Amino acid sequence: MKDAELMALAEAARERAYAPYSRFCVGAALLTKGGKVYLGCNIENAAYTPTNCAERTAFFKAVSEGERDFTAIAIVGGKAGDPPSFCAPCGVCRQVMAEFCGEDFKVLLGNSSRFTAFSLSALFPYSFTKKDL
Ligand code: THU
Repeated sequence: MKDAELMALAEAARERAYAPYSRFCVGAALLTKGGKVYLGCNIENAAYTPTNCAERTAFFKAVSEGERDFTAIAIVGGKAGDPPSFCAPCGVCRQVMAEFCGEDFKVLLGNSSRFTAFSLSALFPYSFTKKDL
């Protein structure tokens, strides 16, 4: 799977965002080591705090289906109606990535025509993980 293809899948996932409160729509496409892709979108809630980010939607779908090994995630965001663009993952989502992924896990940010690849260690240095327990 090419990086640009994974970004395009994240763009498609963003179309399903449920974001009536923030009007900020996010999509994610999570690639497993076996080559499967799990999609996620943000899912907001009238009570606000139950809101789930796109990245965690993708991770929780995958892990609940038995996946544990991941190579990359593509993330796109932007205001509803705007074209997909750069959206940095929130701290909680970075923590979830660190639970299942190593330092070399690739995080693709931007959109399908222009994006940058970051390592998880670059985005989330000095993290607290199972190695600390
Ligand atoms: N959001 C995500 O889905 N992923 C992120 O990493 C950043 C924020 C969502 C949560 C909320 O529905 C909206 O974007 C505005 O914060």
